[in-house]
Amino acid sequence: MNSRVTIDPETTSWIEVYRRMTEIVIPRPIAVVSTVDAEGRPNLAPFSFYTVVSSNPPHIAFAPHLSGRTGQKKDTLRNIEETGEFVIASATEQLAERVNACAAMLPPGASEFAHSGLTPEPAETVTPFLVKESPINLECELVEIRAYGDQGGAGHLIVGKIKRIHLDTEVLNSEGQVRPEALQAVGRMGTDLWVKTRETFPMPRPE
Ligand SMILES: Cc1cc2nc3c(=O)[nH]c(=O)nc-3n(C[C@H](O)[C@H](O)[C@H](O)COP(=O)(O)O)c2cc1C
Repeated sequence: MNSRVTIDPETTSWIEVYRRMTEIVIPRPIAVVSTVDAEGRPNLAPFSFYTVVSSNPPHIAFAPHLSGRTGQKKDTLRNIEETGEFVIASATEQLAERVNACAAMLPPGASEFAHSGLTPEPAETVTPFLVKESPINLECELVEIRAYGDQGGAGHLIVGKIKRIHLDTEVLNSEGQVRPEALQAVGRMGTDLWVKTRETFPMPRPE
């Protein structure tokens, strides 16, 4: 019989549980989330607790934690609570280092656009900016926020309805489909590992 380790989250530090979860749920795509605060100052931060939740109508979700250091809400969460809007850009190989730079601790109101060298571009339906350098940008309107606790590490699930999908034609084929080999999306694994999406294999769905 294989030996096995069993973890009871009730009796394990949340940081160890967090580590195991981020090592287990892989690969995770990365949402580069653009928001503005109540005064219109831009903010940009990456989140890998990120997925799609509905296609018709299209909804998308990601989950900022309360800060593990301070227990406070991250700027992204606070901004979305204040304004009800956000933009999600895709993280690509070309942008990986600049996306990572957006996770730096900056004071509220200081722009990660300026800090990372990414360029804000006006959106069509929302006030937060698109990320000019990203081939994909999704304009979103807040639908709901669900908190799963009030301590450091507590996820706040943010669900938004997609108002606009912007696709750079350079990543599209002649049928308007996104070519993964052109997009070169990157994702997160556990520890400090990132992952490329270059190696794919086709497998048709069963009838
Ligand atoms: C690739 C990557 C993925 C991340 N994913 C998450 C996440 O899913 N949830 C979270 O709370 N923080 C995540 N972080 C950390 C936040 O990006 C970081 O706390 C950031 O400073 C928050 O910015 P804000 O205060 O401007 O919202 C991630 C960082 C990186 C580099």
